[in-house]
Amino acid sequence: MAKKKDSENKWVYVKDSGIHGRGVFAKRDIPNEKRIMEYVGERVSKDESTRRGTEQMKMAAKDKTVGAVYIFDLNEKWDIDGNVPENIARYANHSCDENCEAYNIDDRIFYYTCQEIKKGEEILIDYGYAFEHFADHPCKCGAPKCAGFIVAKCDRTKLKKMRNGKKAKSLVKKGKRTKKDSSKGSKKKKLKA
Ligand SMILES: C[S@@+](CC[C@H](N)C(=O)[O-])C[C@H]1O[C@@H](n2cnc3c(N)ncnc32)[C@H](O)[C@@H]1O
Ligand SMILES: [Zn+2]
Repeated sequence: MAKKKDSENKWVYVKDSGIHGRGVFAKRDIPNEKRIMEYVGERVSKDESTRRGTEQMKMAAKDKTVGAVYIFDLNEKWDIDGNVPENIARYANHSCDENCEAYNIDDRIFYYTCQEIKKGEEILIDYGYAFEHFADHPCKCGAPKCAGFIVAKCDRTKLKKMRNGKKAKSLVKKGKRTKKDSSKGSKKKKLKA
């Protein structure tokens, strides 16, 4: 099959993103529920994708010009290594308020809009990262409801509660007071006087 270039995609193109590195942007207004691109690449075993991911991260730590890891979880057995030039979907950044979703259809990954998208807007998906490593992935999506870290939607309430708890504790430690604490403090003062 001939390899499609970025310029051949009817809906989207790649350019620098304010969120991170490069991103995917709408070429024109896109209706809701539209298939806009496929995540293509090499089908590799789970072991091989782990090996490639680790290798890539090591190289990226040494050399800032080395790009990100572009592995997509395909099914229980296989992943897609999307680090190939024709795969523009690899540049889609994460947002806590996504406008697209990835679907596995017969073991191919397609990106569909989940709302109308205006020309020039960035295509954003929910990476759905696991909770346990959230601290390694600060989120810069800039959405009003941004969770601060890239984690799956189902874990965001847990994260929020944990972060609020931590913030309150660290303020108390430093001798500062949260709003709640200071109102308690002023009550005590009043009682004493
Ligand atoms: C598949 S790449 C996405 C394309 C990337 N912008 C690029 O130029 O290669 C995934 C990486 O992009 C970065 N990224 C994506 N969304 C982000 C966000 N909301 N906040 C911070 N970094 C993000 C993270 O470094 C993540 O590991
Ligand atoms: Zn965010």
